[in-house]
Amino acid sequence: MSILSTENVIKQFKQYDEVVTAVNRVSLNVEDGEFIAIIGTSGSGKSTFLNLCAGLDRPNSGSIKIRGNDITQMKPDELSRFRGNFIGFIYQKHNLIPQYTALENILIPTIMCNKEEFKYEEHLKKLVKALDLESRLHHLPSELSGGQQQRVAIARAMINRPQVIFADEPTGNLDRENADEVLDLLLATKEQMSQTLVMVTHDLKIADRADKIYKMDNGVLTLYKDKDGYKRNSFEAEHNENKQAF
Ligand SMILES: Nc1ncnc2c1ncn2[C@@H]1O[C@H](COP(=O)(O)OP(=O)(O)O)[C@@H](O)[C@H]1O
Ligand SMILES: [Mg+2]
Repeated sequence: MSILSTENVIKQFKQYDEVVTAVNRVSLNVEDGEFIAIIGTSGSGKSTFLNLCAGLDRPNSGSIKIRGNDITQMKPDELSRFRGNFIGFIYQKHNLIPQYTALENILIPTIMCNKEEFKYEEHLKKLVKALDLESRLHHLPSELSGGQQQRVAIARAMINRPQVIFADEPTGNLDRENADEVLDLLLATKEQMSQTLVMVTHDLKIADRADKIYKMDNGVLTLYKDKDGYKRNSFEAEHNENKQAF
């Protein structure tokens, strides 16, 4: 079953006198439970597309459906309620609120959705255990390591049990070891909660663990590799030739 489907999505920005087409007629279909990676050079439109899919920005034209609901047609209130209930977002820089503890940061989406904290107790405990944050809940973000901060951001994205998680270079600020660990925890939690994950990443080692890899090039999205390794050879050949391109 399709959980996310976009059709001919276009997003343009005006920069001085010039119009930049950041996302150019992108149609994408993501099945329930899939892990999709989007790669591409800087400025190719990855973040813009992810923000559109997550309802953080609106396209100029095209449709974006999540579980059949076209988020481009929703009024602002309806969209923010929908986002709070169905969508989780993880940023490259964790965007935690510095004066709140890890626990307070994790619970922010529950307050925004007017959900009672007690309903989350079991889920919260499981999430905190899975992300290995039990001993860090009362610390401020500044007292946590980069990997721990990103794990708090993951818990925050998952607290409302969203069906879809969007992540924009979630391991981009971490070293190899922490990046692998954060991805392991993210994927384990995704499995446990039967979620769908759409992730932008520069890290080919991480992209390679996805069910499918898409590449964004100048606003155009194309399939690079699917579950059966389709296009894998050309992907690796190009990767080996242009390692610096990513
Ligand atoms: N808010 C904005 N205003 C104007 N131009 C933007 C804005 N956001 C992105 N762009 C432009 O859109 C293009 C794609 O940007 P982005 O989606 O951030 O790329 P990526 O995430 O692949 O690095 C770039 O040319 C960028 O300058
Ligand atoms: Mg980006």
